[in-house]
Amino acid sequence: MLRTERLILRPWRDADLAPFAALNADPRVREHFPSCLTRAESDASAHKIRAAFDAHGYGLWAVEVPGAAPFVGFIGLAEPSFTAPFTPCVEIGWRLAHAAWGNGYATEGARAAVAFAFGHLGLAELVSMTTPGNTRSRHVMEKLGMRRDPAEDFDHPNLPPRSPLRRHVLYRLRAPGR
Ligand SMILES: CC(C)(COP(=O)(O)OP(=O)(O)OC[C@H]1O[C@@H](n2cnc3c(N)ncnc32)[C@H](O)[C@@H]1OP(=O)(O)O)[C@@H](O)C(=O)NCCC(=O)NCCS
Repeated sequence: MLRTERLILRPWRDADLAPFAALNADPRVREHFPSCLTRAESDASAHKIRAAFDAHGYGLWAVEVPGAAPFVGFIGLAEPSFTAPFTPCVEIGWRLAHAAWGNGYATEGARAAVAFAFGHLGLAELVSMTTPGNTRSRHVMEKLGMRRDPAEDFDHPNLPPRSPLRRHVLYRLRAPGR
């Protein structure tokens, strides 16, 4: 579990599944993904996240705003399952319910995940990736100090060749002194 000034990043609970399905059914949250998710697809996604979390003891933490909301989404670390020029690697990512946007929660939680990755885990580098048009997510990356080299833009192998979402930008962050 990680704590920040306003957030708790914690392991997932069964009670998180319903609010996770609600945010995954929201077209505003899914704007830069191929589609919204059904309840079954959302539950399957949560199951994978929890399995990875249980296997490693960390991962994509469930995010709680104490006193306000027991679950607003996830922030944390994951290893991409696909192969690309920059894999294997550890990715930092985030997905919050629309009502939680605009509070600085994503950046605040991500800073705690970065500190955990470079401190507790001793990682040398984190990456993050998204579609070029996902300016909110890119802004979080930039506020974390991540840097993009346009030469590393890539086509996401999990998306079909004609998908308008296939092109991705890659950001990197080196651990201090590494
Ligand atoms: C990407 C996503 C997590 C970003 O959330 P967000 O709330 O916009 O991001 P932040 O936490 O950085 O907060 C943004 C704003 O909160 C505002 N804010 C309000 N109170 C604040 C506070 N106390 N401290 C800091 N910022 C605050 C800031 O003005 C900030 O704006 P800025 O970006 O101009 O600095 C969110 O848009 C999302 O879940 N999108 C859908 C899923 C997705 O696309 N995920 C990424 C896939 S790669």
